Amino acid sequence: MRKLLPALYHSDRDGRLSPESRVIAMSRGGLTDADFRGKVDAEVRDRVPVDDPAVWRRFLARLHHVSVDVGGADKTGWNALAALLGEHEQRDRVFYLASPPRTFGPFCRELHEAGLVTPRSRVVLEKPLGHDLPSAQRINDEVGAIFDERQIFRIDHYLGKETVQNLLVLRFANAFLEPIWNSLWIDHVQITAAETVGTPGRRGYYDHAGALRDMVQNHLLQLLTLTAMEPPARNDREAIRDEKVKVLQALRPITGTEADRFTVRGQYVEAAGMPGYLDEPASTPPTEASRRVETFTAIRAEVKNWRWAGVPFYLRTGKRMPYRRSEIVVQFKDVPHSIYPGGAPNRLVLGLQPEEGIELHIMAKEPGAGEVTLKPVPLSLSFGKTFTARVPEAYERLLTDVLAGNPTLFMRRDEVEAAWRWIDPILSAWESSADLPEPYPAGSTGPAGAHELLGRSGRAWHEEE
Ligand code: BG6
Repeated sequence: MRKLLPALYHSDRDGRLSPESRVIAMSRGGLTDADFRGKVDAEVRDRVPVDDPAVWRRFLARLHHVSVDVGGADKTGWNALAALLGEHEQRDRVFYLASPPRTFGPFCRELHEAGLVTPRSRVVLEKPLGHDLPSAQRINDEVGAIFDERQIFRIDHYLGKETVQNLLVLRFANAFLEPIWNSLWIDHVQITAAETVGTPGRRGYYDHAGALRDMVQNHLLQLLTLTAMEPPARNDREAIRDEKVKVLQALRPITGTEADRFTVRGQYVEAAGMPGYLDEPASTPPTEASRRVETFTAIRAEVKNWRWAGVPFYLRTGKRMPYRRSEIVVQFKDVPHSIYPGGAPNRLVLGLQPEEGIELHIMAKEPGAGEVTLKPVPLSLSFGKTFTARVPEAYERLLTDVLAGNPTLFMRRDEVEAAWRWIDPILSAWESSADLPEPYPAGSTGPAGAHELLGRSGRAWHEEE
């Protein structure tokens, strides 16, 4: 209701769905088509701009609902789905699994048994893909037994954000950055995804996920790979994904006691009128898993290759922070010899949220006679102001790519597994530690440890300067 249906509506409104396209929702809910259309009318209509009621009606008419019980004995739902799809044997089918990862394998098997998987079918898998490397491999094997890798689309909605795609254009369609995009010129990189929201009503999921699995394994590592990758030879699906995998494989493992030095875990506690993680509304009381789960993490990562040797990549994400902001900050080294007092190194800020845009912070002279005074000023590119066309939501872009059969912005099996290979040792170090996550007040910038992580090498998070 929040992401997929609005994205599909926009695709319809902008003419990207063929007249025959149908959207069939599946759940255990026992809804009829009319119930489902009513629900979408009530819940989605206010989230999207409906400027032509006829287009909205056309969209509603495309919607169907089928009730299925994955793994259940009753096959009525599968037969109903088969009957609906049977009329359109030759058309593309996209099965979008926005369900817990343990259902991916069984769901694909049932689709296959019901005879619904055709050569023109694709399957989309929502993150998180598993909860560690072995579970991810198992899911990949199960799905891979039914679908070819080229039919599998592992979605990470961060890759659909405009700035993320612009990062590649900025790096590989402009000549000036690439010569300085390395350890000779870059001091460090910061990748942040800060959220103001907490986890009300999500404890069941979040207790077993935590910030590392929920945000770092996928979104933040994806941003890291795009920042650090080598220029691909072609703008094609395999060339780009090949380069991304190499970055993940070059990440220096963080194992055992190193986790104490290079990672920080935090959990928000009650402050400023906001509840702590353990007091968030939930259907069950908090458990030991709830007390141990991190709602914030900061990590000092390193890409061990020629280009990036010695350049820290600081990753940070947290719930209940004071602002909603996702960004990649590339901090350049200082000038080799300064003739002015008070300069600061250049910085490139790629903003993903709340606004998408690019800023290059350069030193300028403050107007005035007398002593030269320097001031960092941004050269800014705001997508919203520069391009008048509506910036599509990430899911719109990605769904369009699935329909077109283009997997460039989706994660390949080896990518997901390489990411888990780096995450797993951190998870096991945390699991075997007696320490609980450091508490941080709701609405603050995270625990003290996150500031020390940079502070001990004389650095600071972007917004602290
Ligand atoms: C999801 C996570 O993948 O991304 C959520 O499961 C998180 O916990 C969300 O809130 C953030 O997405 P965005 O686009 O709002 O940054």
